[in-house]
Amino acid sequence: MAAPKKLYIKTYGCQMNVYDSERMAEALEGYEETSTPDDADMILLNTCHIREKAAEKIYSELGRYKHLKAENPDLKIGVAGCVAQAEGKEIMRRQPMVDLVVGPQSYHRLPELEAKARGGEKALDTDFPEEMKFDHLPKRAGLGAKKLPKRGPTAFLTVQEGCDKFCAFCVVPYTRGAEVSRPAARVLEEARGLVERGVREITLLGQNVNAYHGAGEDGGDWSLARLIWALDKIDGLERIRFTTSHPNDMSEDLIAAHGDCAKLMPYLHLPVQSGSDRVLKKMNRKHTAEQYIRLIERIRAARPDILISGDFIVGFPGESDADFEDTMSLVREVRYGQCYSFKYSPRPGTPAAEREMVDTGVASERLTRLQTLLTEQQRAIQDDMVGCEVKVLFERKGRLDDQMVGKSEYLHAVHVTAEGVAMGDLRRVRITESGPNSLGGVLA
Ligand code: SAH
Ligand code: SF4
Ligand code: F3S
Repeated sequence: MAAPKKLYIKTYGCQMNVYDSERMAEALEGYEETSTPDDADMILLNTCHIREKAAEKIYSELGRYKHLKAENPDLKIGVAGCVAQAEGKEIMRRQPMVDLVVGPQSYHRLPELEAKARGGEKALDTDFPEEMKFDHLPKRAGLGAKKLPKRGPTAFLTVQEGCDKFCAFCVVPYTRGAEVSRPAARVLEEARGLVERGVREITLLGQNVNAYHGAGEDGGDWSLARLIWALDKIDGLERIRFTTSHPNDMSEDLIAAHGDCAKLMPYLHLPVQSGSDRVLKKMNRKHTAEQYIRLIERIRAARPDILISGDFIVGFPGESDADFEDTMSLVREVRYGQCYSFKYSPRPGTPAAEREMVDTGVASERLTRLQTLLTEQQRAIQDDMVGCEVKVLFERKGRLDDQMVGKSEYLHAVHVTAEGVAMGDLRRVRITESGPNSLGGVLA
């Protein structure tokens, strides 16, 4: 048997890309992954198109591989993901060293594309095929599967993909296509396979994961809550999370599950983007700031200790000083445990890209003010954890001897120095210190 060829994948963007990269590696028979591009026979960049900088990075990264290609004419370079979807043809034109381009909905066709590229042809596939890629990918576990490596205790599992919401700033509906939910039976089968390989925590992924409505095992349409309750019955699976949710799809059964399902972790990423009704309307978010705040209240009534995280965009076209102050007030009212905030970046093809931009200096100033407030909140919530007991799922070794790092229920990174703690252990920890990005503790 020929020695396996080496595959180097670099992943940008959201968790779904992390999941996709794993599946692409599984789909490519005859390859094993390597952690450096230097000895690779194939380099695959799994790209993100969400903001301008994200796409620019790809071109500079490709430039870095020029010498590798010169040294090894058999090296094939591929671009996958959302930049591939949006600008595939242009990439091929601008960077002749790219042999292969594959969009997020076509990566089950990667083996054919790879063969074509090996044969010296350019291979491009950015279709939105009729067939669902998940039905054509090798099974993740069980007979007939490519031998899968051992893995850490946490995993992502895509249950829903694509978006029909069309927020005025966002490329995702164009790069990922229309909303599709995977049948519950497929999700459960994949989850059981992951648990057999040692996974104890699964994060269900979707661009609008809480809009999940997959075919149920009983023939009906299952909601995300229904799916979570089915996952809850898998022995050995200890924790369930999901991301990302849209406020308008936060259904009653899902809110209730946060109170009733012990395996569902008390952490919810619920982006609002802005606290101004005027801006929310321009963004096409289809809800008001007040509705969002009331929703958070209902979720907290079901699960009082839940940690809320969010995303914000500042400097959206038309955002005034008063609009921005509304965002600051919303943040003060909600009290976030974790947040991601961005300066608006115009994306070609989206409605907002045609509108007049806010002065970039003003936008930067707003971003700094917002980030200062969000960091203060994040720190205050972390500091409040000192003295509390949490449960930590240990994921990796720390930098110090005998140090292990894991995540609490609230997704805080927690360091513990103790003998005899192994990866995958779920242990009670008393928090003793709070640092800028993580907590420290001792076994309880
Ligand atoms: N599906 C998720 C998030 C998708 S993208 C949702 O609906 O919330 C992740 C985050 O990137 C978004 O929440 C938004 O805050 C940010 N983002 C998306 N497009 C952007 C743009 N054009 N400029 C700046 N930030 C953007
Ligand atoms: Fe983008 Fe809006 Fe869809 Fe989220 S809901 S992926 S922000 S269009
Ligand atoms: Fe980026 Fe595509 Fe995810 S644009 S954020 S990789 S869905």
